[in-house]
Amino acid sequence: MEIQGIQISELAIKYDTPFYVYNLNRMKENVSEIKRAFGADKGRCKIFYAMKANSHPVLLNIIKKFDIGIDAVSPLEVKVALNAGIAPDEILYTGNYESTEDLEYVFNNGVKINLDSTSSLDKLLQIGIPEMISFRINPGQGAGKYDHITTGGEKAKFGIPIEKALQAYERAQNAGVKKFGIHTFLGSGILDEDHFQEVVELLAEEAGEIRSKLGIKFDFFDIGGGFGINYHKENKKFDINTCAEKVYGKFDELMRKYDLGDPQLYIEPGRYIVGDTGYLVTEVTSIKDSFKKYVGINAGFNILIRPALYGAEHSIEVDGKEKMKKSEKVDICGQICENTDIFTRDRELPHIEENDLLIFKQAGAYANVMSMPYNMRMRTAEVGILDGEDKLITRAENLDDFYNRILVNEM
Ligand SMILES: Cc1ncc(COP(=O)(O)O)c(C=O)c1O
Repeated sequence: MEIQGIQISELAIKYDTPFYVYNLNRMKENVSEIKRAFGADKGRCKIFYAMKANSHPVLLNIIKKFDIGIDAVSPLEVKVALNAGIAPDEILYTGNYESTEDLEYVFNNGVKINLDSTSSLDKLLQIGIPEMISFRINPGQGAGKYDHITTGGEKAKFGIPIEKALQAYERAQNAGVKKFGIHTFLGSGILDEDHFQEVVELLAEEAGEIRSKLGIKFDFFDIGGGFGINYHKENKKFDINTCAEKVYGKFDELMRKYDLGDPQLYIEPGRYIVGDTGYLVTEVTSIKDSFKKYVGINAGFNILIRPALYGAEHSIEVDGKEKMKKSEKVDICGQICENTDIFTRDRELPHIEENDLLIFKQAGAYANVMSMPYNMRMRTAEVGILDGEDKLITRAENLDDFYNRILVNEM
């Protein structure tokens, strides 16, 4: 397999497996595509890249060049975005269950604030009165590819229940806040283009009520992220143009219907921008002929947790055997001492031998950022490829990194 003419097998010799590799030109194409679809250059829509998907500074620098903003979830995400040269008013902070210190940090740095609860509003108003405030509304229903990534509805920990939203805006208004946004995000990994216009509908209804009861005019209308990509065996390409057309169809109709004026549409894609740019390159370390064939690789859920966390399935290629017949069904597992460390079960693949390279595709989002050194299996290196040139952008973690944080060896 190759990326931009560079053989993965050559990279594996140069960088040692396991490692993540990102096709950065692909990322640029994704950003251009979503900007075009939503008319971001014409100012109709403002895009905020959800950096939680992948916060590598190299990626943030690409984002900056495309003149789009950042959706950040924590003070340190805000800091990393600022360090990358993103302007404070290009950063939208949406935290959850944050402390007063967290809010102090984001307030003092002048970023846009979107609050997930009324208790955060109380904390924030103790710190100061922001010029603008937005609330994340939970309309009582969710979506999302897996239960774990469904972020709306009664079982979700996110957002302000719709029936309490009015009071939240009223309190902020009484405290002297002058400008407002409204936000919701119902779930991630969605391949149904219709979903997003339904989100507009849910939010517009609520915004309409707030507008009529409190006279608030919204500066922006944020429908969150959630735009899906194809993983294993999903052949339905999510059509971002159709999605945008449907969103604007509803948006224009409902802004008129509820007398909401002309707010800017905000979207916060994460996965759509980086998901298909990343690959995890691993090596087969051991094959066990047990009740079935277990293929062991030199990475585990400590490196790519999505399968263990959500039951997610990634496409997997056996390097150099892409065209060979899928002649066996195997379970692929990692080296972590947990029985959840299984990437896939009964996957049909070409005959696999030790030292083969196994490449996990769609590993650009919610992948390396979730890694950890459990079992003292350290985090991997990351490689970027831009315009046909590969570069090590993060070195692998090592034992010194572990000991550097240890202050006391014996007590
Ligand atoms: C508030 C918010 N916005 C945007 C996103 C990005 O979602 P996605 O990667 O599905 O586009 C997330 C993901 O958790 C989120 O919590």
